[in-house]
Amino acid sequence: MPNNRYITTPIYYVNDRPHIGHVYTTTVCDVWARFMRLLGDDVFFLTGTDEHGQKVEQSAEARGVTPLELADENSAEFRRIMGMFDLTNDEFIRTTDSRHESQVQSLVQRLMDSGDVYLGTFEGWYDAGQEEYYTETKARDVDYVSPISGKPLERATEENYYFRLSAYQDRLEAMFESHPGIVRPEARRNEVLGRLREGLLDVPISRTNFAWGIGVPGAGEHVIYVWIDALFNYITALGLADPESDWYAARNGYWPATVQVIGKEILWFHAVIWPALLMALELPLPGCVYAHSFWISEGQKMSKSMGNFIDLEQLQEYMQTYGRDSLRYFLATQGPLGATDADFSRSQFHETYTTDLVNTLGNCASRTSAMIGKYCDGECPVDSGDAVGADVDWARFTAEQVEIAADSMEAFDLARSIGAAMTIVRKVDAFINDTEPFKLAKDPDAAGTVGSILYRCAEAIRIAACLLESTMPDRIATLRTAWNLGESTADLRSECVWGRLAPGTSIAKVALFPRVDAPEE
Ligand code: MSP
Repeated sequence: MPNNRYITTPIYYVNDRPHIGHVYTTTVCDVWARFMRLLGDDVFFLTGTDEHGQKVEQSAEARGVTPLELADENSAEFRRIMGMFDLTNDEFIRTTDSRHESQVQSLVQRLMDSGDVYLGTFEGWYDAGQEEYYTETKARDVDYVSPISGKPLERATEENYYFRLSAYQDRLEAMFESHPGIVRPEARRNEVLGRLREGLLDVPISRTNFAWGIGVPGAGEHVIYVWIDALFNYITALGLADPESDWYAARNGYWPATVQVIGKEILWFHAVIWPALLMALELPLPGCVYAHSFWISEGQKMSKSMGNFIDLEQLQEYMQTYGRDSLRYFLATQGPLGATDADFSRSQFHETYTTDLVNTLGNCASRTSAMIGKYCDGECPVDSGDAVGADVDWARFTAEQVEIAADSMEAFDLARSIGAAMTIVRKVDAFINDTEPFKLAKDPDAAGTVGSILYRCAEAIRIAACLLESTMPDRIATLRTAWNLGESTADLRSECVWGRLAPGTSIAKVALFPRVDAPEE
């Protein structure tokens, strides 16, 4: 039986245009999902759009369209990027899907029935002109007068539905103790735990000051807070709150998620509120919430006011110049997985491309296939076991790297996984330099030795390629075709066993990564 694996991205707000942040998170999930599929696992990969809330209502109003029209348009833009970057999500959920909406209502109903959601009263200083509450401190700072309208703030009360988060304090602390890997990287887990220990308050989960949302069951003037609506997407996409549905029948086995990938700015919702909601619903917790850090741009934080977002147009331009797979490679190996931010700079992109892809992987594959062309008539030679002057136990060495690559991918350490494949390629490069088959080939008596060397090179590259396929599916497909390697068998481990490359296979010369001129300073 294949393993079930479930990976999710955050669902993206439709009041923003897609940019590198969205492409990044979805791409790293895609690399992982593809790798797990290559291992033979049964993967469900979810992404989508978060479409309710006051901001969407306001942007739509400003544009003179309905909230749903705005959502339709921008959600389509997000779906378009999935194709543009060849992202293989199994479902694209929209929070305006009726199956999501009805399930959110039944989930909230369940929480009301269990007493985890209750109607409470909130009292505070209200700016009627702005329809906004001030905290006590902020109200004091403005002398209890609206800085906008000049009218006094009013003491107002509001009824809201609350989620009894405070009741989960102990269970959440215990969860972090007994299951430390639930939030990664560790720095992020410690951050949440520190804040958790300051104590939890109940959270309002409904709003009455706008309409664009899912109604609280039985209390139509209240709409469900957009974050609660959004978090539930991870289970409504599997039909968990609709056991009669076809979604449930086909997908319920994927819960709990294996890994839920988010950016660090939305950690609290995912590391505290989300597990508490699941506890309240008596559902199992995800294996891991992985909060990556941020891309910054040429050393600067990206922001709307700075206008320095790496947007889709720029990403497209990178793809045109360097190829889509090179962009995926860069995002996966140089990106902000882990606790520190990463800089997206043109010079570093170029450097990574040239060093790793042109000079290492591309060069090694083209050198090896060119020599097989020249010395072996383009047919994979036989390794007759000759001593070739450089002592490498290839079967053992590649098996070790395969394990590192698979284990690291499992742990969501993409750079290390890809690094293991590249270690194999670098070893091949050094092996060619040490054994010098191009010199030996001048001696007709050494033909067998040359064949043995070249078999080992090609076989090691083939194994590295299998490990790199989830990161660079298109380039590896080109190599598979040129070298007649056939399609992947979804059994990565046995495909990576040394010696699977059959002598006699026709090996054509490949140019995987063309050299690109350095960008101008
Ligand atoms: N809609 C909420 C998430 C709800 S999930 C139940 C949201 N949406 S968002 O459109 O703002 O997307 C946020 C996500 O985009 C981040 O968590 C991260 O995955 C990605 N990124 C946004 N900016 C980023 C960077 N600068 N760098 C890397 N990824 C970032 O929040």
